[in-house]
Amino acid sequence: MLHKVFGLSVYQTTVGSHSAIREGLLAEIRKVMEKPECQFEHDNSRVYSDYRLGNDPITHRYRDLLLPALRPCVEEFGNMLGIKEIVFGQVWFQHYERFSFHNTHNHWPSLFSVVYYLQFDPAQHHATTFVHPCALQHKIYSVHNINWPREFKPEVKEGDIVFFPGFLDHYVPMCRSDKPRTIISFNFDATG
Ligand SMILES: [Fe+2]
Repeated sequence: MLHKVFGLSVYQTTVGSHSAIREGLLAEIRKVMEKPECQFEHDNSRVYSDYRLGNDPITHRYRDLLLPALRPCVEEFGNMLGIKEIVFGQVWFQHYERFSFHNTHNHWPSLFSVVYYLQFDPAQHHATTFVHPCALQHKIYSVHNINWPREFKPEVKEGDIVFFPGFLDHYVPMCRSDKPRTIISFNFDATG
């Protein structure tokens, strides 16, 4: 018997009200992006994010639109895992322009994290790419020419939302498009 053990839950679904909230969210996010603290430039790449603004009131308008719209998806995910109580943590957006990317990182010690693809063209943009947590074993497998996928990149479209364990490493490959790519991310804790 072959046991596949220690499976991870990465859940993908679509936000039902995406088309109703999209423009309102983008309009509010554009206002936040004007703050210099939200602008990060490196070489020829530019990323906007309110990650460092914390709970600044200017961020409340888009969060107030966002969280009620996403709550059904969060509860759906919670029900599948037998979660009874959900506690929302930090919420932030990332707006990527041409040549922008995000290096490998994780959201530990948050229990779960979410990426909501607010502005996304599958023909132009990359989804968040997850890295296998057993990196050492993967290295040995590849030395012995044993095929074992190192990464998982879900096929997402705009309006999709992806849930993943906070400890799971992930990155965003470079955006080479002139079309902006905007996601909203948040962490949450839960009790069963
Ligand atoms: Fe992340």
